[in-house]
Amino acid sequence: MKISEIIEKLQNERDLSDSEFKGLLETDAFDHLLHQAADGKRRSIYGSEVYIRGLIEFTNYCKNNCYYCGIRRDNRNAVRYRLTKEDILACCEEGYRLGFRTYVLQGGEDPCYTDTVICDIVSEIRSRFPDCAITLSIGEKSKESYKSFFDAGTNRYLLRHETADDSHYRKLHPDSMSPDNRKRCLYNLKEIGYQVGSGFMVGSPYQTTENLISDLRFLQDLQPDMIGIGPYITHEDTPFSSFENGSLNLTLRLISVLRLMFPYALIPATTALGTIHPQGRELGLKAGANVVMPNLSPVSVRKLYSLYENKICTGEEAAQCRGCLERRVSSAGYRIITSIGNAKRSQSKNDDTRTTG
Ligand code: 5AD
Ligand code: FES
Repeated sequence: MKISEIIEKLQNERDLSDSEFKGLLETDAFDHLLHQAADGKRRSIYGSEVYIRGLIEFTNYCKNNCYYCGIRRDNRNAVRYRLTKEDILACCEEGYRLGFRTYVLQGGEDPCYTDTVICDIVSEIRSRFPDCAITLSIGEKSKESYKSFFDAGTNRYLLRHETADDSHYRKLHPDSMSPDNRKRCLYNLKEIGYQVGSGFMVGSPYQTTENLISDLRFLQDLQPDMIGIGPYITHEDTPFSSFENGSLNLTLRLISVLRLMFPYALIPATTALGTIHPQGRELGLKAGANVVMPNLSPVSVRKLYSLYENKICTGEEAAQCRGCLERRVSSAGYRIITSIGNAKRSQSKNDDTRTTG
């Protein structure tokens, strides 16, 4: 089949064979057509709307030691910080004033924030901002912990699976972490009733096209509400410091493929995408993304949440990510919506059965 026919098939059937995916992912000759098809699909469901989430990076302590991550435990050069409950609430206040109705509390796996502490913070946000969605992104926890966060008022949880292939997972993580546990966490979160976000890095060390196809298959099984992907970006204080960054074009191609596979998904134009190219996030939106996640953390700590090098939005000029993004989104031909921004659901029964395809 020709690549243009493969794109048409993906558009109509939301699925391809492994060899068709491989053909599509390994050529850049049809990117324009692919982005156009994805943008058409996105506009048919979400119009030109882009949802915003206010990201609060509240701790960069982490007990894990992922080989790619700048805040890994063994990075002695990382200057560590923690935000107090009051700091976090102040970020939410500021965010609310700016029109945010979703807060994403993200952090390393920091044992200082016990379940009780997290539940206390969440309950306080829930009671002060009843019309907002609360998202947690604090890594792998027991099902009981996830249930307690949910009962305290958390609605959504982000946990990227990073890579769905077991042997690739082991190349990116030390033995203390397991691909099975990560996947189990995601299914537990879904079972509890969270809106779940997953995703992976593009161009992480040792990644093959086959690995990426496994990622797509895993997402077909999980059916997450949100799918976050971004290019791998190197960090000098990690064991992977000598690897190349992931590719902008492959990331954009995958955003389009994901939009065609999961028409209703929330797909962010990520900070990593904005870091490898000055217009990365705008290009992400044009390729099918429909969410942006400006940083609401205090400017004083932003540089310290350094997962990778040259992260954008960390300087003084970034005090107002909100305004900056508003301009960027509209320059790309879209508009920011300040609602809670849940994923839309398919209306027709016929459509529903196909999302599992
Ligand atoms: N480059 C790009 N993304 C990274 N992440 C962690 N380290 C890096 C890196 N070096 C991503 C992971 C994680 C998310 C919070 O950030 O996918 O889940
Ligand atoms: Fe903590 Fe990677 S070391 S998320």
